[in-house]
Amino acid sequence: MQSSMSCIRAMTAQDLSTVMEIETAAYVHSWSEGNFRDCLSAGYELVICDLEQQTIGYGVMSMAAGEAHLLNLCIHPQKQGRGYGRRLLNHLMQIADQKNVSTVYLEVRASNTRACTLYHMAGFNEIGFRTGYYPSGSVREDAVVFARSMLNSNS
Ligand SMILES: CC(C)(COP(=O)(O)OP(=O)(O)OC[C@H]1O[C@@H](n2cnc3c(N)ncnc32)[C@H](O)[C@@H]1OP(=O)(O)O)[C@@H](O)C(=O)NCCC(=O)NCCS
Repeated sequence: MQSSMSCIRAMTAQDLSTVMEIETAAYVHSWSEGNFRDCLSAGYELVICDLEQQTIGYGVMSMAAGEAHLLNLCIHPQKQGRGYGRRLLNHLMQIADQKNVSTVYLEVRASNTRACTLYHMAGFNEIGFRTGYYPSGSVREDAVVFARSMLNSNS
């Protein structure tokens, strides 16, 4: 039995100020509000995770031609490590499954062990490596490319 109630719902433009607070708290190299607006106008899947009516995280996924790309998955730093990221990811995988997506792709910084562990445990496999993909101060950081086949999935 959970002690606190969380719910996942669609993101709207009204969420953007809170989303930007979390985004800048969680990432050194964060998205701009314009990035989120572009994703909303493009009709991507943008979801919010609320905990006791307070927004604590969100996810962004694009879908086209049977493929999905997980573009952002973020939980407020003070709420990380409590299972909300996993729950948000499962929710996005269910949306992809319902829309008959066959493969979900994502890129993550090679140093982001928490995210890499989460994706491994959620059935993603490492399929590639992009050298110097991310800005990271004076040197650029490598990206790990993950993919998960949705065929025969029970997510
Ligand atoms: C990555 C992120 C979304 C994960 O969400 P979270 O709510 O913190 O993660 P969860 O509590 O759901 O944990 C999921 C799994 O991650 C792993 N994990 C959690 N905390 C960890 C830690 N401190 N170190 C390593 N692995 C960890 C565990 O395997 C965990 O599974 P378990 O609870 O069964 O042990 C979140 O940490 C985050 O927003 N980070 C900053 C933004 C980011 O880097 N996003 C990903 C970019 S692609």
